[in-house]
Amino acid sequence: MDILQVIRERRSIRSFKAREIPPEALQALEEALIWAPSAGNLQARRFFFVTQRPLKEALAVAALGQSFVAQAPLVVVGCADHGRIAPRYGRRGVELYAVQDVACSLMCMMLQAHALGLGTVWVGAFREEEAAKALGLPPELRPVALVPVGYPEHVPRSAPPRLPKEELIFYL
Ligand SMILES: Cc1cc2nc3c(=O)[nH]c(=O)nc-3n(C[C@H](O)[C@H](O)[C@H](O)COP(=O)(O)O)c2cc1C
Repeated sequence: MDILQVIRERRSIRSFKAREIPPEALQALEEALIWAPSAGNLQARRFFFVTQRPLKEALAVAALGQSFVAQAPLVVVGCADHGRIAPRYGRRGVELYAVQDVACSLMCMMLQAHALGLGTVWVGAFREEEAAKALGLPPELRPVALVPVGYPEHVPRSAPPRLPKEELIFYL
């Protein structure tokens, strides 16, 4: 697949088969996470690969009952690492850079997942404190997004529409 095809054809997947994710695929997802860019190359981000059922269920509850979170064989929780970013970049680092660092990584991972035939969905609607408590996160880690990963059970037939480019992109 060429990269634009991967970008265009990726869809948010909200229903997963029980099939396990093989180790080679997990390794490719890990590589995609670590090679994403980061502010000052500080890599102020951490990722938790959650496979234990009770933990996935707690995350689904924290995600306002989005039950597909527990259905996926894997949920990757991307966290901003304030301990790593704050000493060099202060408030801007904490509020912006570390969150962007996590987002860059997760997006790369989602594209890699799609290229491998795996489905993902970005889950941003969740109660942070509840998710952090369920995973036993230390206070310097802020969970930014949950990404369920698995082989798709159902793939949407069409893509949600995009705004016309003229409304989004401006050449100056
Ligand atoms: C910041 C952010 C938060 C999102 N939160 C959720 C969520 O909590 N639950 C969900 O089902 N999808 C969530 N999504 C997925 C979007 O609904 C989806 O990307 C959008 O509808 C476009 O569909 P597509 O990903 O198939 O292109 C989120 C996406 C982003 C980028």
